[in-house]
Amino acid sequence: MALSPFLQNLSVISVANGNGNATSRTGRRPSMVVCTAASDASTFTFEEGRLVRPNYIGDTPLSRLIAAIVSFKPLYSFLKRGARQVLISTAEKNNIPWRKMAKEILESDVYKELESIQNDSLAYPDYYLNPFHAYDEGNLTWLAAAEAEAATLSMARRAIPYASSADEANQILRGNWLQAIEQHHLQYSKTSMITDILDVGCSVGLSTGHLAAKFPNAKVTGLDLSPYFLAVAQLKEKKRAPRKHSISWIHANGENTGLPSKSFDLVSIAFVLHECPERAIVNLVKEAFRLLRPGGTIALTDNSPKSKVIQELNPALFTLMKSTEPFINEYWLTDMEATLSQAGFVNIQSILTDPRHMTTTATVPL
Ligand SMILES: C[S@@+](CC[C@H](N)C(=O)[O-])C[C@H]1O[C@@H](n2cnc3c(N)ncnc32)[C@H](O)[C@@H]1O
Repeated sequence: MALSPFLQNLSVISVANGNGNATSRTGRRPSMVVCTAASDASTFTFEEGRLVRPNYIGDTPLSRLIAAIVSFKPLYSFLKRGARQVLISTAEKNNIPWRKMAKEILESDVYKELESIQNDSLAYPDYYLNPFHAYDEGNLTWLAAAEAEAATLSMARRAIPYASSADEANQILRGNWLQAIEQHHLQYSKTSMITDILDVGCSVGLSTGHLAAKFPNAKVTGLDLSPYFLAVAQLKEKKRAPRKHSISWIHANGENTGLPSKSFDLVSIAFVLHECPERAIVNLVKEAFRLLRPGGTIALTDNSPKSKVIQELNPALFTLMKSTEPFINEYWLTDMEATLSQAGFVNIQSILTDPRHMTTTATVPL
């Protein structure tokens, strides 16, 4: 596989050695990463802020004020409703027809898919039973499942405001993430072949579909804790043109999947970890290590605490975000590179693949 011009221009922010100590290849942490998007070859600048993480995180006066606001129940309900309204109206202003997309799912045959996908003996981890994203029952509802695609497209639109459309924003965000994974695997694995892929926290299958399209010769499995999300994923897959290898869907906990050891070449965990407490992040990374073959690649992608855009987020917006993301503080405080290193991964790299998100890749030693 030849490297695309995009990859040749993708600079590495940090490379961690086996002890998890992050340094740049030049020994200094660069403040800026310049990427060329694969789609149209324009140059985008993904800039790091001056801080290690935003000052609304950890034990700062601002973070204590935000925590107090969010823990006050009447205010929390008000914020939660506000956050939801902002999400829907912003999406619709950006030509993402949130309510129409959700209605189509809710009025479809999706309910029939649940039976074939739900694992009735699965015990949900306690953190998963929290309200998330302004849904009182978190990810365990049809409404959350029906709205997940629009919410994901809106997230991409917010991340790439200079894109000309929501679709283009999505293509850039996913394209850069996939290129970072491909580059890592080519550079560090004994073989460039990727034959088995696991997408942990696949939600309604958007990341899974992108992985399947990028690596068409691989068998791809999407795994999630929400049977409602998986039912939507399965229905959408049935409605599209058949793939060379159809995607398999598994209702399980990514912390303890029950899948055979050393059975995957790539484990992706995309936009999942900001929804998890630190103990779950550690377990997800350890389970990925067990599931990967020697030379296999793990790819984590999520919000970057080093992103300039995120560091400069308006505290009011952050307060809204925190009211819908119960574990976002723990996520920000977790050292991803150290977590990967402690699990046994090597060749740990983090790059900003868009202005807000980092993709962290690492290898199981050969
Ligand atoms: C924001 S969504 C992920 C989106 C998707 N990967 C994408 O990129 O489009 C987060 C998902 O993680 C799932 N999740 C959270 N904790 C999990 C766990 N321990 N095991 C499996 N899935 C989990 C949630 O159910 C939810 O579907």
